[in-house]
Amino acid sequence: MQVTTSALSPVEQTLLIPLAARAHGARLFPQMALHDSCAASALSKLEVEADDYLDDPLSVYGVLSRTRILRQIALDFFIRHPRGLAANLGCGLSCYFQWLDRGHNQWLDADLPEVIALRENLLPSLGQHHRNAVVDLKQTHWWRSLGLPEGPNAPAVLLLLEGVLMYLRPEEVRQILHEFAEHAPAGSEIVFDSLSWMAIGCAGLHPSVSRTQAQFLWGARQMRDFTAAHPRLRLLSEHSVLDGYDAATAWLCPVFRAFWGVPMYGIVRMGLSH
Ligand SMILES: C[S@@+](CC[C@H](N)C(=O)[O-])C[C@H]1O[C@@H](n2cnc3c(N)ncnc32)[C@H](O)[C@@H]1O
Repeated sequence: MQVTTSALSPVEQTLLIPLAARAHGARLFPQMALHDSCAASALSKLEVEADDYLDDPLSVYGVLSRTRILRQIALDFFIRHPRGLAANLGCGLSCYFQWLDRGHNQWLDADLPEVIALRENLLPSLGQHHRNAVVDLKQTHWWRSLGLPEGPNAPAVLLLLEGVLMYLRPEEVRQILHEFAEHAPAGSEIVFDSLSWMAIGCAGLHPSVSRTQAQFLWGARQMRDFTAAHPRLRLLSEHSVLDGYDAATAWLCPVFRAFWGVPMYGIVRMGLSH
């Protein structure tokens, strides 16, 4: 029997967009194939019309591209921190540990309760170095409630927030960045994708997100928005996601970045000053 997604809220339903792209996006972009066996298997058990999501090739490309960038960032982190922990907050049904289990490192996938229930129903166990946990990022003190390490001698943590912050209010995004900077041990990093402020309120124009009724609530207005939440925050790198899609986006993305001073859509990686 197929599993329904009707109990998911609009913002929870957005997890279907990256799931379908990771499962079947290589049909459109073979050079970007992820070989994500978890996504294909989970999607086949869900009562959804997966092909509908493939009608939006720019989003499919964006998911494949950002997954490859985040996977590489996480791999680089684990090379520097072989026993390190990565926490994917707002993980949806993504399954990075299938690629990144290196024997001694650890992975935590966290999301809202309905999504974690779906994960536990649909995805295979990923071994003793992996766990799922419930989190609501709108609540404060999630660092401690997830049992993330803190203190001067604690191991570094990599936080991933992929396709999440744009659905939260500016003060909630600020609070998340503040909580990370307040608690994370030295050497920790936070990585997330960011839309520009021009996308705020425009989810109805997005071919895939408009299916869900979720709304874009936050977008960066200036690069300082990323670091303003706490004096420890430092920008480490910025990654463009869409440049490889076609000639028009290869031109538009850098022009937008130069003119408006923030990425139209990009990945931001930040660390801590001490
Ligand atoms: C577009 S999906 C991205 C899922 C996943 N990161 C991926 O790329 O496949 C957005 C995710 O953010 C989660 N999310 C939204 N608001 C949240 C909150 N307040 N706390 C925790 N997760 C949240 C949703 O449940 C959903 O799984």
